[in-house]
Amino acid sequence: MKSFMLASLPLLILWFGATYQISWPHTLVLLSLLTLVPFFVNLWVVPGGFAWRNYYQNPKKLRNLSGPMGWPFLGSLPIMGSHAHRKLAAMATVLGANRLMALSLGATRVIISSHPETAKEILCGTSFSDRPIKESARLLMFERAMGFAPAGNYWRYLRRIAATNMFSPRRISSLEGLRQRIANGMVVGVMNEMDERGFVEVRGILHNGALRNVVESVFGSGLGLGEELGLMVAEGYELIGEFNWADYFPLGFLDFYGVKRRCHKLAAKVNDLVGQIIKERTRSGEFSGGNDFLSALLSLPKEDQLSEPDMVAVLWEMIFRGTDTVAILLEWIMARMVLHQDIQAKAQKEIDTCLGSQRHVHDSDIPNLPYLQAIVKEVLRLHPPGPLLSWSRLAVHDVHVDNLFIPAGTTAMVNMWAITHDPSIWKDPWVFKPERFIEEGDGFSMMSGSDLRLAPFGSGRRVCPGKALGLATVELWLARLLQQFKWLPAGSDHQPVDLSECLRLSLEMKKPLACRAVRKYGSLIA
Ligand code: HEM
Repeated sequence: MKSFMLASLPLLILWFGATYQISWPHTLVLLSLLTLVPFFVNLWVVPGGFAWRNYYQNPKKLRNLSGPMGWPFLGSLPIMGSHAHRKLAAMATVLGANRLMALSLGATRVIISSHPETAKEILCGTSFSDRPIKESARLLMFERAMGFAPAGNYWRYLRRIAATNMFSPRRISSLEGLRQRIANGMVVGVMNEMDERGFVEVRGILHNGALRNVVESVFGSGLGLGEELGLMVAEGYELIGEFNWADYFPLGFLDFYGVKRRCHKLAAKVNDLVGQIIKERTRSGEFSGGNDFLSALLSLPKEDQLSEPDMVAVLWEMIFRGTDTVAILLEWIMARMVLHQDIQAKAQKEIDTCLGSQRHVHDSDIPNLPYLQAIVKEVLRLHPPGPLLSWSRLAVHDVHVDNLFIPAGTTAMVNMWAITHDPSIWKDPWVFKPERFIEEGDGFSMMSGSDLRLAPFGSGRRVCPGKALGLATVELWLARLLQQFKWLPAGSDHQPVDLSECLRLSLEMKKPLACRAVRKYGSLIA
């Protein structure tokens, strides 16, 4: 291919010169410019594109690794928009590179797995235990928090204290009261919006609920900081989702869209606000025995305590990560409930049969609601909030994946969306059918992260530590909302449920869900 292009270009120029009667001196200039072409072609025309150029000097090493060349210098950056997961899946299928595809994002070497076996090699081994960090994430202090800290002692320590003090089963169950209070508030919010507008946009209600849930579990109740922190989280999401040339080219000294400036400003605000809360709590000494994450961090023995800047980063990360994931997942679930009335009715019947109409659903009822759990799994399959497991991994040393050589420093992504929509893995992958998880029985454990056919929380050492908390929250709130209301399309003035997607940091519904919620006969008032 490369030699064919090189051989045909001079002939093309001569033909062009003769056809359009370009003077000989001009044709000669064109021909001499052509001498530069082999240089550029050598850089660019390699499987995977520009960023892989150096590794093809030793073709034995990269034999069989295939991928798109992409654009000169930009590589495949132009396809990394709001449908990147779909475009990458289609590309991998066309190139026969589902198991592993190489590509270039600017100067960054990337591999993408769209297959459970290679996904497991990437996620579960120790070779991809770091994450590449975007400049915005670094400026927003996430390098000192769990999600982006290099996989060393500090990161291990953060995971350990979070596992004990934020995500342990005991802690999750001790926060049921908070989740129930917020569910009560959501029910009232839905009724008010129905009274005022005749329909309800659940996004705002779910977002506020998820934010309050995480803020109170991190700082305890009564601070009333929800709105301020909500705006900060929203801005952080926008900044991390923003395209930044400096993430793909060595252009760190430039600030194209003012991303750096805005990150510095936001980080200063977060430092002020969270730093202030830490100082006040330390000064008051009111933390021993507190049931919030900050109190737990302040109660650690002196030698184990985090410095204040590290504590700010860790607390901020929890709020940042715990809000949108939960709200986005619940909005997708409610959209599916409105769209599939038969499935909604089946879930409501399961709830009514299990507990009657005399009391609200509790955490302890969820294991007796297998169909409801199957609905959550099916939505995670069709609309995984992190379709490219957005927080990718980084090869910490040279490694082989699928027997192919991958150099140290390569970014690795798993296209979970491609895996969960692959007809060779899932029967009727486009059909919304929670029953598939009932038929599969309990053999399909999403929680363990060991079955990479469905691993929306990732897998391996860096698996999402918030998955049990996230699922407990989503399942309880879903059960409460289904127990209380019948969810219907918004009516003829509104669009029917629109399942269009938009990939930002998470995979969101492009248009907020608008629907009607009708109080079920005999349902309890919140
Ligand atoms: C339904 C909700 C959620 C989904 C779908 C989700 C998904 C993910 C995924 C895909 C990863 C990357 C895993 C990997 O690299 O293998 C991740 C990491 C992470 N998640 Fe979640 N998550 C959810 C909820 C939460 C919540 C509620 C929290 C905290 C309050 C949280 C905190 C984190 C953190 C700190 C990491 C980084 C872990 C590390 O790098 O060591 N997540 N999540």
